[in-house]
Parts: sequence; structure tokens; C-alpha cells
Amino acid sequence: MWNRAKFIFAIVTIGLCLSANPSLAQQAASQVSKAEHAHSKAQGPWWKQAVIYEIYPRSFQDSNGDGVGDINGITSRLDYLRDLGIDAIWISPMYPSPLVDFGYDISDYTAIDPLYGTLADFDRMVREAKKRNIRVIMDFVPNHTSDQHPWFAESRSSRTVPKRDWYIWRDGKGPGQPPNNWQSWFGHSAWKFDPTTNQYYYHHFYTEQPDLNWRNPQVRKAMYDAMRFWLDRGVAGFRIDAVSRLFEDPDLHDDPILPGKNAYGDPNIAHKYTDNLPEVHEVLREMRKVVNEYPGNPVLISEADEPNIAELTKMYGGKDDEVQLPMDFQIADVNKRSAPEFRRLLNEIDKNAAGGQPHYFFSNHDQVRQWDRYGDGVHNDQIAKLMAALLLTTRATPLMYYGEEIGMRTTDPVRKEDVQDPIGKIGWPEEKGRDGERTPMQWDASKNAGFSAAQRPWLPVPPSSTEYNVKAESKDPNSILSFYKRLLALRQSEPALRDGLYLPLIGEDPYVLAYLRKKPNNSDVILVVLNMSAEPRTVKFDLAAEGIGDSSAKPLIASPEMGHDSTLLSHFTIPEFGVFIGSVHCVLAP
Ligand code: GLC
Repeated sequence: MWNRAKFIFAIVTIGLCLSANPSLAQQAASQVSKAEHAHSKAQGPWWKQAVIYEIYPRSFQDSNGDGVGDINGITSRLDYLRDLGIDAIWISPMYPSPLVDFGYDISDYTAIDPLYGTLADFDRMVREAKKRNIRVIMDFVPNHTSDQHPWFAESRSSRTVPKRDWYIWRDGKGPGQPPNNWQSWFGHSAWKFDPTTNQYYYHHFYTEQPDLNWRNPQVRKAMYDAMRFWLDRGVAGFRIDAVSRLFEDPDLHDDPILPGKNAYGDPNIAHKYTDNLPEVHEVLREMRKVVNEYPGNPVLISEADEPNIAELTKMYGGKDDEVQLPMDFQIADVNKRSAPEFRRLLNEIDKNAAGGQPHYFFSNHDQVRQWDRYGDGVHNDQIAKLMAALLLTTRATPLMYYGEEIGMRTTDPVRKEDVQDPIGKIGWPEEKGRDGERTPMQWDASKNAGFSAAQRPWLPVPPSSTEYNVKAESKDPNSILSFYKRLLALRQSEPALRDGLYLPLIGEDPYVLAYLRKKPNNSDVILVVLNMSAEPRTVKFDLAAEGIGDSSAKPLIASPEMGHDSTLLSHFTIPEFGVFIGSVHCVLAP
């Protein structure tokens, strides 16, 4: 507790610091009202402040013992998500589907697959989530339907039916020859011959996923109506799947061949004529208009594996009229602990010409999990915390993937016959598919890690679940889960972390990534220092340019070796793979 004498002394000393650094005046005042601040109303739309969490519904929680996760399972775990500090969940597709691509092959856009429950279960989940201030974001798959969708059944039935033009049909080049050399993302030709009408249809992904023809206005209308169906049920927006693949060159130019072969044994190819065609933006603008018809700022998130930040920036639209949150695969796929590379990308996207909100993630249902991808095989748990700190302290809307908060690792099948994901079957053994990152959530150390009462869940529970699970980690203050909880709570309580500016520091350092997060008037200043290397590092920060003079930083969350005392910014040592998040303040004379 402050006594009166100490208070007067502090005021005088702060005054001295302030004469050199006037902007710290507001900082002193704000110390007093920190608590008030923390609870002050967030600025801007909710998705700028939110932490989003992806749920792969097959693997989150099984409520009926069939070995597959479901909607009621998700509802039963909403308290966990609320306590973790999650603001919105994006749920991978739960629509009726033959499940060739585990839900990304949809046969009805306005229903729920009975495997996951009913529309009533869905409505209850949305209601229960709302009670906990959690929004629900649907996955939306506009590029293709399932080949079992009634639209495709009609389209393939004859060359003259009204829905023929809803998909991409072309003649072959000659007998047994597809129209051109375009390749499926999942291996081999992107054209499939259909004997009923003696034409080929185009599929960017599996043959069972025919591409819709987005040049047809009826297709657009049907898809926008499907979006409205879910918005009417209270969803907070959509994650739009594979959005850059919506259009193909109408003249069917061959794609350029590149050297070498891919995991499926096909020649490497540049998807020049099937990816990122300019008309994509027209559709995104129309989708944005659809969500804008609804109150509450519904969000559009795009799966945008764009080749560079300039392309990614286009996703925001010229007038903030496309996607609010394009997923940034550049950051996700740095794939090495490189401070310079992260610094370069963070700086670039932070200054994106559209002024758009960055949207970062490291793991999802298509990517090897971050625990493995960024780990060095020895310090993986510490590195998992380092990556968590990066994700949750930069200026961005962070996107987590279920289980990353407990350090779930990728657990690939060991035998081809156990593989579920078809690309693992096509590409085995080089491409083992995506089962490894979709294994059941690890809730506790009981049978099937508390995920399911079934004899055999749809994918095996990783052996690491005995140690890495929610129950065990909740009791351990040093666990990855406890670290995530502290980070998420800090993000909530520190306005600078939530929506402050991002200012990169020590521009050239090869090992240490450091930045300030601060409110414009320096009223809250947070320093983040992340050591990406396996050696302790000493760095020096000079914050004079920011109006902050001789200063130190007090840890809010830091690697245990750093203790609880303030650290001088002129000589700042951070342990191997260390994390420091601290509030910057003026040094008080002893
Ligand atoms: C997206 C999904 C992926 C799916 C593909 C085809 O990339 O994330 O899981 O297989 O689209 O729909």
C-alpha cells in the first residue's frame, strides 16, 4: 500500500521525469485509473478486440458416444471457452455432407448434418454462447459443393437443364484428354470426365467437390441466401473457405509448368489461371453487402493464402468493402523462429495500405500444429509459450486452433490403412494428410482423453494426452494452458495490448523480436520482448523517439528467470526462448 509520504515523493519524481518527457504525465494519471480503464468500453467493432478460436467439430467433444464430436458437445464446453477468454468461435463445417473432405464437401447449405445434431441444437448453442459473450462464426464454402448436392445432380443430368451452367463443364481436348493441364490442389487433373453428358467438370479440390460457376448470377443469389439463412439464426459472420479459387480463366489457358514434382507425383505447376482472378473481389464486395444488411457488425474472414502482403491487402477492399479479417498465411507459415522474418512481415502488414486489421494464426485444421512446426524438439513447451506470446500481443485479431492452448502436437497416422483424410491416401507416405492436426481434444487423462465414451473415436487420441490435457494443465501454474490464460486475461485488462498501436523496436536484431504496444498518448505502454534463439540475449532499448526517456519495464508476464522486478531498458537480458511482457514506466530515483 502507498503511504502518504511515499505518494508525495513519487509525485515529485514523476514530475522530474515528466519535465523531460511530457507525454508521461498522462501515464502517471492513468496508473490511478488502470482498473477503470480495464473495464472501459472497447473501441470499434467487436472483431477488432476479439480472440477467435477455431473448433474442428468432429474432434472437440462427443456428447453421444459415437466417436465423433458434435454440437451439444461444443455447447457443453462453452464454460471452458469463456474461462479461457475466448470471444468468438469459428466452427469448421457442420452442414450435411458425404464427408469426403470431412464437411468441406457440402450437400445442403441450410441444414445441419445429423452426425453433429439438429438445427435446434445449433440454435441452443448460439443462445448459450451468447449468454457467455461468445459469438459463433460459420464456415462457408462457396467455391464448390459436394457432388451429392442436388444442384450438381441436376447439373450433371443433361447438357440442357437449367442448372447445367451452375458448374464448370467443358469438352475434352480429344478422346480421353481433359480440356487443359489444370491440376487439383489435392493431386492429379482438375477435370473429371462425366459419361452421362460426355463432358468434363472442373474441381479445384477432390473430384467429389465440383466447382460452382460464380459467373452465373443464380449461383451467387443462392449462396447469398444461404448466408442470410445463418445470419437470421444469429451467427456473427463467416470464415470463407478457399476464396481465391472462385474463378478460372474462361479461355482455359494452360497453367505454367514448374521444375520438379509434387507429393502426388504430378509436375509442379503455377496455378496462374485458377487462383486469385480479379473477379474474386467483386464477389467479396457482394458478400460484404450481405453481412452489412445485419446489425452487430458481422465479420467476414477469408482463407487467404496470398503470396504476399500486397495481395493480402487487396482482400480488405479499396473502401473497407470486402473482408474485415483476411487470414495472414504469411505469418502462419514463417516456419522458423526468425526474428527478422517476423519483424519484416509484422511491420509490412501493420502498415497495409488499406488500413485493415491484421489477422494472425499459427495452427488450423490444414496445418501441422505449431508445437511441432516451431519447436526445436527439446524446448517445445517453452517455444509454444513464445509463439503464444507473439500471437496474443501483436496488433491483430488473433485466431487460435483448439488444443494449441494445451500444447497439442501433430500425431500423424503410422499406417496408410489408418488414414482418414483422402490426401493422405493419395500422397502416402510423403503426404500423410491432415489427420495429425485433427486429433481429439485432450480434456483429461481418462479414456479417450475425456473426448468420447466410444470404444474408438474417429481418430486416435494422441499418447501425449496423458500429460497434456486441460485438467492436468489447469492445476499446473507453469503449464502451457496457464500461460495462455494469463496472456488472454492480460489482453483483456490492458487496452494497449487490445487495440494499442504497434511500434517495432531494435530493427536489426537477428534473435530478439521486440515491440511496443501503446495508446496514442503514451497513457499505456507495454513492451514485448521475445527471444527466438536458444541463447540468452542482452539488448538495449532507446525509447526517446517515443517520448519515453530513461526507463524500465515491470514484468506483467515474463519467463520465470526474469523475476518480478523492473528491468532497465538500457541493459535488458532475456533468457533463451524467453518472453517478457511488461509495462514501461519512468525510473524513480531511489
Ligand atoms: C480449405 C479448407 C480445407 C479443405 C479445402 C477444400 O482449404 O480449409 O480443409 O480441404 O478448403 O474445401
